[in-house]
Amino acid sequence: MKILLTGATGFLGRHLSKRLKERGDEITHVSSKNCDLTDADSLSQFDAIQFDQIYHLAAWTQAGDFCLRHPGEQWIINQKINTHVLSWWQAKQPQAKLICMGTSCGYSPEFPLEEQYYLQGEPIESLYTYAMTKRMLLCGCQALHKQFGLNYLYLIPSTLYGPGYHTDSRQLHFIFDLIRKILRGHYFNEPVVLWGDGKQKRELVHVDDFLGTMLNLESESNTLINIGAGEEYSIIEFAKRICKSVGYPFEKIEFDRTKYVGARSKVLSVAKLKQFVPEPAFCPLEEGLEQTVEWFRAQFFPQEQTQELNAPTHKSETVPG
Ligand SMILES: NC(=O)c1ccc[n+]([C@@H]2O[C@H](COP(=O)([O-])OP(=O)(O)OC[C@H]3O[C@@H](n4cnc5c(N)ncnc54)[C@H](OP(=O)(O)O)[C@@H]3O)[C@@H](O)[C@H]2O)c1
Repeated sequence: MKILLTGATGFLGRHLSKRLKERGDEITHVSSKNCDLTDADSLSQFDAIQFDQIYHLAAWTQAGDFCLRHPGEQWIINQKINTHVLSWWQAKQPQAKLICMGTSCGYSPEFPLEEQYYLQGEPIESLYTYAMTKRMLLCGCQALHKQFGLNYLYLIPSTLYGPGYHTDSRQLHFIFDLIRKILRGHYFNEPVVLWGDGKQKRELVHVDDFLGTMLNLESESNTLINIGAGEEYSIIEFAKRICKSVGYPFEKIEFDRTKYVGARSKVLSVAKLKQFVPEPAFCPLEEGLEQTVEWFRAQFFPQEQTQELNAPTHKSETVPG
């Protein structure tokens, strides 16, 4: 198949590109370097190709408090990106199926995390604009399907983890931040301080498991589907597993109970997913974390060197987004 992939240089995009190439697809990669999607004409360079699928992964965001600090820019940039992709799809690629990503923070904390409630209530304040731009992406897909008969699939991933996460100075999703802190505690004897009492629970999906499940759903159309593991663990449980992999005593971890930790619990409903993929294959958390810790260690602590320069020191979240 001929596939246009936006967000091709991102964490998910790089993994997806590899999988699609292995499947024999012909991929056109889009990132801000070769095609700035905030520019209305950026996609016209691909008009001549008739795509079978458009995987739309591009989004302008980061973990931590980034959304809280950039709501105006996020609204302008993400609305432009999504509007330009959707209007090009409608005008130039109506034969293509658009597969795009929502976010678990699109859900209101007042409603169950079931697909039928995705547009109900209000998302949490700290992620409000980002969440609303993701909701608008769904509204756009629905509208273009209704008026022009275009086909889409809107997937809502839980927080993803695994090797191949970004290694630049961007803020880290909570699990990578936990790994970073524990490795720094181990190698540099820095205090490991986690936010909250550690009892708040979060769900993770390994990026390879997410992709396997997503590719199994590709034939579904004009609907939204959560992709989650269906189970959550406390920050304490994640920390214990990481400590075991790293060889750091869990007892040395301190908890700062004065810090904001967001929702106490956050797990996507997978009832709808299981209608399409009755037994989604997810690797055991222990195994996935071990692999991720080893990848992280190799990136930032090569051959167990302990030079500060090798390790990311930037502030990042312990509050999952
Ligand atoms: N990672 C998760 O845990 C998670 C969870 C739920 C949903 N999602 C969604 O899944 C998608 C992929 O996530 P990710 O973690 O792979 O994101 P990511 O690593 O932050 O990658 C973002 C991608 O968007 C591209 N992009 C940003 N601004 C652009 C612009 N103006 N023009 C063209 N491309 C632009 C980036 O290109 P450059 O590299 O050139 O900047 C990059 O390829 C996103 O839509 C995200 O909201 C992710």
